[in-house]
Amino acid sequence: MTKDGIAALLNLEGEKEKELFRLALETKLRYTGKKVYLRGIVELGNICAKNCLYCGIRRDNAALPRYQMSAEEIVRAALWAYEGGYGSVVLQSGERSGEDFIALIESALSEIREKTAGKLAVTLSLGEQSARTYKRWLDAGARRYLLRIETSDPQLYEKLHPPDHSFAARLECLHILRDLGYQLGTGVMIGLPYQTIDQLAGDIVFFRKMDVDMIGMGPYIASEGAPLASLGGGGERNFSLSLKMIAAARLEMPDVNIAATTALQALHPQGRELGIQAGANVVMPNITDVKYRRLYQLYDGKPCLDENAQHCRACLERRIISAGGEAAPGDPGDPLHYSRRMRRKNYL
Ligand code: 5AD
Ligand code: SF4
Ligand code: FES
Repeated sequence: MTKDGIAALLNLEGEKEKELFRLALETKLRYTGKKVYLRGIVELGNICAKNCLYCGIRRDNAALPRYQMSAEEIVRAALWAYEGGYGSVVLQSGERSGEDFIALIESALSEIREKTAGKLAVTLSLGEQSARTYKRWLDAGARRYLLRIETSDPQLYEKLHPPDHSFAARLECLHILRDLGYQLGTGVMIGLPYQTIDQLAGDIVFFRKMDVDMIGMGPYIASEGAPLASLGGGGERNFSLSLKMIAAARLEMPDVNIAATTALQALHPQGRELGIQAGANVVMPNITDVKYRRLYQLYDGKPCLDENAQHCRACLERRIISAGGEAAPGDPGDPLHYSRRMRRKNYL
């Protein structure tokens, strides 16, 4: 589709909007089937060197107590997921540099690989790092990397970040990750202050041009601990736009993995089910120890603060089934797009 064609989809309302979701669901079933993959997400620390203007755990939020899990805690969470039949986990945290942090992740990765005989697919979501660090983590056993571009429009990116944050540097990281051979995921926030439909359509063109394997997008939701909170945000419009973005992304890239993210559920009690019905095929149950959950609130109203990992897993399996999907326990769920891309090897 052209950018204008995508923008037209994002503007659909009422019956036409429902038709878009039906078409996206049909496309998903045809290309990737009924399976919805579970990725247990471990929020391994909330220390962050960055200061994104929308985020609740940004560096300057001095009111927030900070934590960092030990390698032992990370491995314990991952093994719990593995033994419970998860095929995949995501290790996420604020952005940190320094040898201590790099080595901590490296040793957690090697131990996970050793104890699961390499059968647990590990995704990292640890922000911008050097090529050397990405390579070390790949060698230690990481297989996938998620790095949201946040918005593909450089001018909007600049408005949402302090001057020392660089769109070009973030984009470069995506290229490095892809060239190293990671399965690559990116995504954006939907309904950001100042963001237009045209820019969102541009985001989908960006995903296609970057030829990514995984897409994780969710509604922007104002966070009290962040400067942009005064502009408001969240609500019905961002929710419905997020579903339309999932559907449009599915139509444009039928064989990628698309997540129905937690933020969808913060805005609507059936948010993730509706995401699955609009074309998503991945959900990410939170498997972080409950004692840390309140400290990892990127936005207000984040669900599951008191529910433990067992509870979230059972809850999400029920939700998958009620959305007409099929849970896929133990399946790492590699994106079909990745194997095709590897066969073609025609990188941009
Ligand atoms: N609303 C929604 N998503 C947010 N993120 C950060 N702050 C917010 C917010 N206020 C998202 C960013 C980041 C991911 C880990 O969380 O897209 O990449
Ligand atoms: Fe840090 Fe990520 Fe929040 Fe930005 S969005 S402040 S990088 S945790
Ligand atoms: Fe955590 Fe439903 S996913 S309680």
